[in-house]
Amino acid sequence: MTQDVKIRQMTIDDIINVYKLGKQAFIDEKKADKSYVYSYWSLMAVAHITQENIELAYVAETNGRLIGFALGHPQYEHISDVGYLEWLAVSKEFRRKGIATQLVNHLLAAYKEKGVPKVVTDVKGTNEESSTLFQEKLGFKLKESVNFLELTFKSAKKRTRKK
Ligand SMILES: CC(C)(COP(=O)(O)OP(=O)(O)OC[C@H]1O[C@@H](n2cnc3c(N)ncnc32)[C@H](O)[C@@H]1OP(=O)(O)O)[C@@H](O)C(=O)NCCC(=O)NCCS
Repeated sequence: MTQDVKIRQMTIDDIINVYKLGKQAFIDEKKADKSYVYSYWSLMAVAHITQENIELAYVAETNGRLIGFALGHPQYEHISDVGYLEWLAVSKEFRRKGIATQLVNHLLAAYKEKGVPKVVTDVKGTNEESSTLFQEKLGFKLKESVNFLELTFKSAKKRTRKK
């Protein structure tokens, strides 16, 4: 990993920078892929995680600049003994330097510290970098493969957004 990259717990002061980095990684970078479903990334999602589970939120920074984050929930859906690693991103120019690996390892240590016996995450089938990271570097095992199905109503009226 780059020498001067620091991994630390997230604070409420990081909310806006985490949101901006996530917007780049989950929305702007994926714009060409029309099937991408990660657009539910929102400022509210970040604020919610920060409010509820700040001890399960880590950021990476270098020279005061936030360049990565890993955000988790204490449980997955209603299953109380399974942690959920929901969001992970690293700035484009800092990738392949082991930063995501470090972030996830910090988060996994926090889950262990809380006595959570198992952690799950979900990765889009075409997201090769994440699949490789989780399965080959971090020891996650593929448990279930889910197909995302969609039905478009042919007669659907276009909804206009209220301003
Ligand atoms: C996925 C992501 C977080 C990885 O961050 P990173 O800091 O580059 O990851 P690391 O440097 O820790 O990579 C660790 C390993 O993952 C695998 N990996 C990472 N990027 C890869 C890529 N583009 N292609 C293939 N394998 C990749 C490699 O095995 C790598 O080890 P190596 O560099 O020794 O070969 C980053 O690419 C990203 O932010 N992507 C966009 C957001 C996203 O898809 N998030 C995950 C879904 S929530």
